[in-house]
Amino acid sequence: MNKKPQEIMAKALEELKNIKGSVDLNDLKVKYLGKKGEFTSLLKMMKDIPQEERPAFGQAVNEARKKFEDELNDILEQFAKKDREKKLYEDEIDITLPARKIKYGHKHPNTIALEETEDIFIGMGYEVMDGPEIEYDYYNFEALNIPDGHPAKDEQDTFYITKNLLLRTQTSGTQIHAMEERPLPIKMIAPGRVFRADEVDATHSPCFHQIEGLVVDKNITFADLKGTLAEFARRMFGEETKVKFRPHHFPFTEPSAEMDVTCFKCKGAGCSMCKHEGWIEILGCGMVHPHVLEMSNIDPNEYTGFAFGVGLERIALLKYEIDDLRLLYENDVRFLEQF
Ligand code: DAH
Repeated sequence: MNKKPQEIMAKALEELKNIKGSVDLNDLKVKYLGKKGEFTSLLKMMKDIPQEERPAFGQAVNEARKKFEDELNDILEQFAKKDREKKLYEDEIDITLPARKIKYGHKHPNTIALEETEDIFIGMGYEVMDGPEIEYDYYNFEALNIPDGHPAKDEQDTFYITKNLLLRTQTSGTQIHAMEERPLPIKMIAPGRVFRADEVDATHSPCFHQIEGLVVDKNITFADLKGTLAEFARRMFGEETKVKFRPHHFPFTEPSAEMDVTCFKCKGAGCSMCKHEGWIEILGCGMVHPHVLEMSNIDPNEYTGFAFGVGLERIALLKYEIDDLRLLYENDVRFLEQF
């Protein structure tokens, strides 16, 4: 019987005992089990062995090889286990340490004011709509009863892109989109960014936010407008808030008004916040002009509506007694942390 397989196995197992690390182990694996390894070479010797001894020889090689391979894998596993334990030890967690404080983010005052406004109107059955910030002259002006040459067009300090295309100066254009796209009746608010060529100061910014509102249905009257906006003011600024409507002019509403609320700081007595008037102007509103309805293919003899526009920053500034608009855009964490 050919003793070669056992000899090689004995030598291999001996070498395995002296292994110190996984690198040596891999070298050994190649030496014995690799393509040119010793066990592999044994099998190549097969042709020189007498025919009748070949099965026994083959079996002997395979058994020796398997024994070596098993032992080698055991040791490999031991090394891997040691590595894992070492890593666990190094990563050890000290459960007696105090927990790290989690830092929470803060909602921007604009976001809080917007979410509150949306909640109030959604609660009254309004849908929240979106509108394009880049707008056609038609939606921003013309369809709102502000034709070329109308003085209101100059007042808005528009950023033009082309003669017909501009950055919207007001969210009022969403009224027209709503009337063109939606089935009647309509009850919607549309918050969004608006742009005007204004210098930055404590009360102006070239980019700010408005929330537009529109209701169109049969038998809508100024009483509906008053009731709705008074309810909005009470929910937004407190139950005791009173409202006052002053006649005003907007080209797309008739009649038009501005709504004031009682100063929520001094409750109407007069203070620096309300410039000692006891009232604070909060929004523009009015009954949708019949011509505006007509231009959007709604019959003003059958349908009426009211609309309003609120400055989002204005609400945030008033609600949180912030005295400079610029604070809202600087994203200084010391400011934002207060909300
Ligand atoms: N778009 C007006 C502005 O920017 C605000 C406004 C006034 C909107 C009256 C309205 C409205 O819907 O009815 O000053």
